[in-house]
Amino acid sequence: MPISSSLEPAPAHTQVSRDFIQNMPKVELHLHLGGSYPLSYLEEISTDHDRQCLHEYLCPKRDIISYHEWFRVFDVIERVVDSESKVEEGARRLCHDLAKDGVIYVEIRTGLKDYGQGYVAYIDAVQRGIERGIKETGIQARLILSFRRNTPFDLAKLTVEEAIARKDKGVVGIDVSGDSGIGNIEPLLPLLTKAKESGLGICIHMGECVEECDQKLILDHIIPHRIGHGVHLGDDAHKIVHENKLAVEACLTSSVIAQMIAKEEHHPAIEWWKNGHPVCFSTDDPLIFQVSLTDELWKLSQMENLDKKQLVELSYDALNYSFLSKEEKESLIHKIKNYYC
Ligand code: IMP
Ligand code: ZN
Repeated sequence: MPISSSLEPAPAHTQVSRDFIQNMPKVELHLHLGGSYPLSYLEEISTDHDRQCLHEYLCPKRDIISYHEWFRVFDVIERVVDSESKVEEGARRLCHDLAKDGVIYVEIRTGLKDYGQGYVAYIDAVQRGIERGIKETGIQARLILSFRRNTPFDLAKLTVEEAIARKDKGVVGIDVSGDSGIGNIEPLLPLLTKAKESGLGICIHMGECVEECDQKLILDHIIPHRIGHGVHLGDDAHKIVHENKLAVEACLTSSVIAQMIAKEEHHPAIEWWKNGHPVCFSTDDPLIFQVSLTDELWKLSQMENLDKKQLVELSYDALNYSFLSKEEKESLIHKIKNYYC
């Protein structure tokens, strides 16, 4: 059930500054924990060698990294954040960074890892870090558990079982991510159905690379709640996404750096959004792309000459497309209303 923004039309002179966006209460719906640890934290805990590797993948070298290549950066990050205690601290510090950027609600997604104490201990550590971050900053945050198209069935099953067990205890959804050109998702599709039937939100990375051949297979099996990226959708998938008004998580910088598009302006979701299709603008991996949500919205506002009302509406919209309950959304909406109404 959507909540209503009921904003008055903006006066014609409402000029938007970067500060307006920085201070605006924002909602981040597409962010991978492994791609979002604060750089300062990773530098603190890295060896000299890993610190050097990390910097090779981050800006400004990013223009040489292709879509398939840049996934290798996550191996470096997993080498650096290699214990439950580091994961916990990283998640806590991430909440601090996001709160500083004016994010009032975030859905953090992560795939299960085993750092010696098992997969369940990993989820516990992430949730402990998030809980501490919430307490210390006042941000609201929920967790989405991810698997990839090539995740072994038993691990994907555990991911869904843990998400269901933790529903209403901090976990709100399931995400399918990873290199979308690798793996066969077919055996995992019933797990997505089970998750959706259990009331979890479903978001699927789709349309990231032209080699993807499972878009129709997935969408014939399950209608997710949100689509990650949606840049290269085939005709069938495009039709289903639009007919069902599926919210698209558009990550402008990520789409350029991962070479999905040549320029931010080419992201198809911008045009869809202007035509009334649900779109939420997100960062994807703020560490890797060295962007904040403020940066992304500032970029968009400059490109599209947005006014304050349009920008604030983006926050309302993102809150609407989040996996929170109607009551939880209502409890956050006043923060946006108090900022600009
Ligand atoms: P983690 O699951 O918290 O370790 O976050 C990193 C993981 O998220 C990577 O290993 C990828 O599987 C996934 N990921 C991050 N960014 C993207 C993206 O843009 N497309 C697909 N998968 C991504
Ligand atoms: Zn992503």
